[in-house]
Amino acid sequence: MDKFVIEGGFPLKGKIKVNGAKNATLPLMAAGLLTEGISRLENVPYLTDILTMTQVLEGLGVKVRRKNRTLEIDSTHLFYYEAPYEPVKLLRASILILGPLLARRGHARVCLPGGCDIGRRPVDLHIKGLRQLGAKIEVNNGYIEASVKGSLQGSSIYLNVPSVGATENLMLAASLAKGATLIRNASSSPEVVDVANFLKHAGAKIEGEGTNLIKIEGVRQLNCVHHRTIPDRIEAGTLIIAAIITKGEISLEEICSSHLTSLFVKLRQMGAEIEAVDRWVRVKGGDLLKPIRVKTLPYPGFSTDLQPQITALACLARGTSLIRETIFQGRFTHVRGLRKMGARIEVDKSQVRTKGVGCLKGAVVRTPDIRGGAALTLAGLAAEGTTEIDGVHHLDRGYEGLEEKLSKLGAKITRVED
Ligand code: EPZ
Repeated sequence: MDKFVIEGGFPLKGKIKVNGAKNATLPLMAAGLLTEGISRLENVPYLTDILTMTQVLEGLGVKVRRKNRTLEIDSTHLFYYEAPYEPVKLLRASILILGPLLARRGHARVCLPGGCDIGRRPVDLHIKGLRQLGAKIEVNNGYIEASVKGSLQGSSIYLNVPSVGATENLMLAASLAKGATLIRNASSSPEVVDVANFLKHAGAKIEGEGTNLIKIEGVRQLNCVHHRTIPDRIEAGTLIIAAIITKGEISLEEICSSHLTSLFVKLRQMGAEIEAVDRWVRVKGGDLLKPIRVKTLPYPGFSTDLQPQITALACLARGTSLIRETIFQGRFTHVRGLRKMGARIEVDKSQVRTKGVGCLKGAVVRTPDIRGGAALTLAGLAAEGTTEIDGVHHLDRGYEGLEEKLSKLGAKITRVED
């Protein structure tokens, strides 16, 4: 397994471009199952999760071709309705093929998905919503068996949690259902909006995306589209925190600043200088970081995918910070590595309490998952001495060339292939 070797203490300087969003590209690839013919996605990042989703689609008989940052998805011949076990087990987002397979083929067999180990990740809202659209669904021996006679039927669905994935899955399924579907308490995340924009370009009738009430009027067929994915707000947020934790100054281009409002509020409260216009941001870290209280919430609240990273930053704030995780109860896998680097940090149920220390010390730590690994990388950039981070293949799932981007900004970080 590859590892990062980081020499800490070098402030980040310069400017960097952010890649396309992983969490938009994955549902958009599933949306490609709905359009007969070749749909094209632009601005697709090079991530292992995208490779894994490609294997899932190819297992269904879909042709996927990559030309630089463009992904061509040809679902003309959707031969199979059973997704291949191996890639599905690696990727939670595989569940997003359920809705499109039911809508296009009337049948789906998908094993319960895997993904990051960040606590319970049920799919009950996906199943309950699809049943309300008329699907017959059973879960046997770890497999979801789903079928529908004829077309799915529009329905009014309430999500008791504004689940991103369930909103996407149901929006995909409802686009080809008969009649109208209402999704109440839907996720309003930018990635959901990006999927809705793809579907509308393909001929779907959708209103309310970006709010908690989305209305879909089913249509008979969706046409192929050429769509550019939105920038990755989590990669952007991670790089912004990297600049602050190293007391550097960077600017990011080709981002959507409006997607990062909740992060900017918290970082400004900690003392960072942030100048943001629509697709550009300049951020400067100061010497004195103030402690912070953060509570992760569904979008537009503070993103759970940036919680490990701001926790690493809080370890260096002057005072006690409290970070409450309300989305995934197990998302504290980064605490052990931070503690090994000298952080004074405790987990109390769903809350992390950190008492700022003057500095962190380099250590040998292991990447637990995508965002936990990002947090340890940021800590290593700020720490005194050398930090080794094992298992960086987890990072490659969600960050394209993170070490190259950081090196370009002046970090002393190398990947050692094991
Ligand atoms: C998406 O996961 C993202 N992944 C996650 O990013 C992100 O953390 C999460 O949304 C934030 O909500 C992708 O988009 C590929 P959810 P998803 O359904 O859709 C509960 C990363 O690091 N829930 O919004 O799986 C669930 O347990 C990843 O890039 C149910 O109870 O998340 C959680 O508590 C990690 N039943 C909450 O909802 C369900 O059927 C939010 O989950 C579904 C979800």
